[in-house]
Order: sequence, then structure tokens, then C-alpha cells
Amino acid sequence: MLGQPYCPSNIQQIIDDLVSEISKQPAAGQVANYIPALAEVDPNAIGVALATINGECYTAGDAEKDFSIQSIAKIYALVMAMLRNDDSMWERVRMEPSGQAFNSIVQLESEQGIPRNPMINAGAIVVADMLVNQYSSSNHAFLQFIQKLCAKQDIHFDEDVFVSEQQHGHRNAAMAHLMKAFNNIHADVDEVLAHYFFQCSLAMSCKDLANSLLFLANKGKQPKHAEPVCSRRDCHRINAILSTSGMYDQSGEFAFQVGLPAKSGVGGGIVAIVPGFGVIAVYSPRLNQF
Ligand code: DON
Repeated sequence: MLGQPYCPSNIQQIIDDLVSEISKQPAAGQVANYIPALAEVDPNAIGVALATINGECYTAGDAEKDFSIQSIAKIYALVMAMLRNDDSMWERVRMEPSGQAFNSIVQLESEQGIPRNPMINAGAIVVADMLVNQYSSSNHAFLQFIQKLCAKQDIHFDEDVFVSEQQHGHRNAAMAHLMKAFNNIHADVDEVLAHYFFQCSLAMSCKDLANSLLFLANKGKQPKHAEPVCSRRDCHRINAILSTSGMYDQSGEFAFQVGLPAKSGVGGGIVAIVPGFGVIAVYSPRLNQF
């Protein structure tokens, strides 16, 4: 029917079959180990959650297992920054795909410390700077924002991951200092990095992730909330950025093969927005090279 999203009646069967099929395949990929705490997870975990804007949530495998959301956090941070800033924020972080790895530093010098987009680390660090400057307690505000989206109070951060990130985040520190030299970081660099690492260290499940991001599939509004999370225009803009930059230097191939706005994290999660329908979140900590 026109205007109704396609919704097969056997979604549960589809995702159950998917998880069992994938579990039988030979293991491929490596768990992230450049942050030691991330290497300690079960490499064979696999979970899927599909939340719809109609209030259904289908899950399979380890869908309720908490894991480190890592760069998926960049979505929430961007929404929070867009809520507090006008279009001038896009002079500090652009909206172009970078075609580079998530932690690449090469473009930053030639582009005067202005990151290509808010999904690569450099861009997320600029966004973290905005939050540190504009929210009285950015960690608390960030956590509260997500708890409200999930309608759940027990979303927490993983201290071991946080400490591990701080001890091994040399590339992030290098980028933050370079951007400070270009006057594109306004707060204290250590404070900005601490907030950025806090975001990365949040632990959530596929189910939480899928439910929390429904507003991006629903023109900016969480289905059961009275007030919109963001405007329709900002919702559209966030999905545009996820489509072009959410999967870093594999964004083109992902758009070609899957065709959905999406974001990955080195913890092994990927979320994908299906506008007008819902959100799919998957977890499998074995990563490919991207
Ligand atoms: O900045 C880092 O190194 C990590 N804490 C976050 C990276 C991440 O998840 C990148 N991508 N998928």
C-alpha cells in the first residue's frame, strides 16, 4: 500500500535464520586490539536487533549483551551539538566524506585543522569540544541524553575501556593538539579527549542502540515521546552524513551494497537507519580492515 513501509510478516524468522547461518560460517576478521580492553571480548558473539517505528523490536543471538559502542557514540554527540549550534558549526567540521581511515591525520594539516566530517575521529573530537564548552557537565548530559532516548536509566560506561582508551589514544591526542594549534579546539585538550573517550566507552546492547536511534527513522521524533529529539531538517542532515561518512573509507561500498545510512564502531557494532521503518543494530566483534 502506498505510504506504508514494506514489512514482511516473518521478520523474526529472517533474523533467527540470519544469525544461525552466520554462526556456521568460518570465522573471519579480527577483534580490535589497538585498545587492549577491546581485545578481551568474546570474538564469536553475534547479535541483531531490529526496532520499528511502530513499536516492535525483534532480536536474535546476543542482542541484549552490552558491548562498547565506540564510534557509534558519534551519532549522539552530533545530535547534541546540532541542538546547541547554528549552521556556523559546519565551519569547524565539514560534511564531506574523507576517503580515509577513521583515525587518519593526513588531511588535517593541509586542511587547516578542519576535519572533513563529524564521523571520523578528528571531527568527533571537534564535536566533543563543542559539548565540553556548551554543556555544564558534558559526560552527565551525554549519558542522560542516551538514557532518555532508550527510556532506560541503567545505560553505563565501561571504566576499563575508558582507561585503556586514555592510555592508548595517542593518535587522538595528536589530532586534538594539531587542531588546537589551528584554533579549532577551544577547551582544554585533555578535557576534550576525556569526554571523547567517555563517549566511546559507553556500553549498550543492540536492542538499546536500535531503540535509541528510532528518531532518525522517524523524521526526528522518538515514536513514544511527546517532543521531537531534533528537527526534520537535522534528521535528514544526520542521515546524509551517515550515508556518506558513517562507514569511513568503506562508505561508498556500503552505500552500493546496503544503501542505508549507517555507523560502525570498533567494538563490533553497526547501526543502520531504515527511514520510515526502523533501525537495525548488529554486533559481531570481528572486524574487517576498515
Ligand atoms: O578513537 C578511537 O580510537 C576509538 N575509541 C573509537 C574508534 C571507532 O570506533 C572507530 N570506528 N569504527
